[in-house]
Amino acid sequence: MFAENTQKFNIQNFYWQTTLIFVQLYTVSMDILILGSGGREHALAWKMKQSPLCGKLYIAPGNAGTALVGTNVPIGVNEFEAQKQFCLQHNINMVVVGPEEPLVKGVYDFYTGDNALQHIVVIGPSGYGAQLEGSKAFSKKFMQRHNIPTAAYAEFDATNFEEGKHYIANHTLPVVLKADGLAAGKGVVIATTHQQALQVFEEMIVNRQFGDASSRVVVEQFLDGIEVSVFVLTNTKEYKIIGHAKDYKRIGVGDTGLNTGGMGCVSPVPFAQGAFMEKVERTIIQPTINGLLAENIVYNGFVFFGLINVQGEPMVIEYNCRMGDPETEVVLPLLKNDIVDLFLAVHEGRLNKTDILFDSRTCATVVAVSGGYPGLYEKGYVIEGLNGNGDGENSITFHAGTQLVNGNVVTNGGRVLAVSSFGNTITEAAASSKAVLEGISFNGMYFRHDIGYEFVPPSV
Ligand code: AMP
Ligand code: GLY
Repeated sequence: MFAENTQKFNIQNFYWQTTLIFVQLYTVSMDILILGSGGREHALAWKMKQSPLCGKLYIAPGNAGTALVGTNVPIGVNEFEAQKQFCLQHNINMVVVGPEEPLVKGVYDFYTGDNALQHIVVIGPSGYGAQLEGSKAFSKKFMQRHNIPTAAYAEFDATNFEEGKHYIANHTLPVVLKADGLAAGKGVVIATTHQQALQVFEEMIVNRQFGDASSRVVVEQFLDGIEVSVFVLTNTKEYKIIGHAKDYKRIGVGDTGLNTGGMGCVSPVPFAQGAFMEKVERTIIQPTINGLLAENIVYNGFVFFGLINVQGEPMVIEYNCRMGDPETEVVLPLLKNDIVDLFLAVHEGRLNKTDILFDSRTCATVVAVSGGYPGLYEKGYVIEGLNGNGDGENSITFHAGTQLVNGNVVTNGGRVLAVSSFGNTITEAAASSKAVLEGISFNGMYFRHDIGYEFVPPSV
């Protein structure tokens, strides 16, 4: 009797211990490296640090904001060899790539192709997949192959330059010219006269305005409508929509002046729901993900669908192979899921088993920029008023171009801060962000007061 009990106990104990080992193995925390240094990476770090699966968190190179959440590492996003040494020394289990440049340069292939790094979960597409953003001509051809609605276009280089001039001269106005490669967000020109279009065309191809990036140019039809960006996580066999947002790209009030990286964002966008979003999923997202799979394109990361609503019809303006900035600063605060678990779900192929949960509130972010941005601006100004600001229940201050110098947070880029706030309406959320920014100051600080302006109810 006694012996039987002991045996039973031991067997139970054995099962219990084995289960515990499995639970521990599964929930063991991951030491994670994020690549990047903007508001997007601060938002990613902030969100990832909330996960019980997140162990040590490193950001390379990071900013003064990411240093509040994890440990900054002085390694550049394109310094793959230095990253390798760091990952090996610190037993990194996961690498999350923020910006497009390392992705287009093949950071995913670098990690997955190296025996010593192969065990690391990398969130981002292969270099070939990143061509969706890295080459406008590649992405237009991909859309054509998969019947994805986008503007009509033609592509030209030095070999058919004269033909291109003729094409432009006969094109309806406005006409859109796009440098094929990465051009730091400056490679798109919407020309309103043929003369301007021809000048830009020559500047790009003959004078190589953006170097190799503009040796090929996509000339496309202008689409008129409201833009919205939709964000998807995928491993090509499965996908989940993790949010959407509208970005305010122009520097000036009322969408005037020069293009920037983004002066603010709102989410959700009132028209991006119901029948419109069903169309987006059916005519754009599904064919894109199916296309990646059909073409054996390795892609374990974010797809940023830059869309335009042309009289109720969604069309693709661009793909990006990463999250947006400042879109991330509104999408992640509204996402209720554990993001590290979502990344593991991408890797393990269990996205379909994961429900995405959203906060029911609205989120708006307002970006404070350096005086002169997007043109020339000075760096190194001390930012006052950060302490105690924006970290309440309603607002979060994400850092973009900031740096810690002798204990002071100083400006270190064009876009300096992105203050995100929750609200019941877009107006309320944007008002909270502006109120936080009113309490912050640095030499030359500027922000738009009208983020979300077109969604203000008429009675307000
Ligand atoms: P892209 O780099 O392709 O995202 O282009 C930058 C911005 O230019 C977009 O966010 C749009 O505001 C605008 N744009 C690009 N292509 C078009 C188009 N075909 N029609 C109208 N606007 C466009
Ligand atoms: N805010 C636009 C982008 O991230 O490309």
